[in-house]
Amino acid sequence: MAVLPILTYPDPRLKQVSRPVERVDDAVRAFIADLEETMRAGPAAVGIAAPQVGRLLRIVIVDVSGARRANPDHHGRMVLVNPEIVEWEGLAVGREGCLSVPEYTGNVVRAERITVRALDERGEPREWRCTGYEARAVQHEVDHLDGILFLDRLVSRRTDLFRRRGR
Ligand code: NI
Repeated sequence: MAVLPILTYPDPRLKQVSRPVERVDDAVRAFIADLEETMRAGPAAVGIAAPQVGRLLRIVIVDVSGARRANPDHHGRMVLVNPEIVEWEGLAVGREGCLSVPEYTGNVVRAERITVRALDERGEPREWRCTGYEARAVQHEVDHLDGILFLDRLVSRRTDLFRRRGR
């Protein structure tokens, strides 16, 4: 396994649309292991998407279990290949950060509850119902696959963008 370099804003690769994974094979699983190690190596992160390490593939990992704001009904470690959010309910404003935008956090409106369909790391189709902070994390990571950063979803850069303290 390996910790991979993380692209940071405004790297143009973060703005690209990633392509679907055709087959979940051992090479894909090896990449997922590296992606997870990269996520866990950095400052407390609740998710990562493949394009953040320059691989334009539709793969994300989410794990909010270590987060103070984690909703009690979270799923722990989730590996989502070719994820599709198929249902959305409710709206909530919440603070987000991103490994690719290390200096800032921002307030973003997201759905409060979602249903996401994806392949797991064995290539099996699965469906998850996510709420709260986990739903937010999934939406944030799936956005990366379409070249969208939380910065693109701020209502106002003047009032909704915050510099991290101590950086
Ligand atoms: Ni991010």
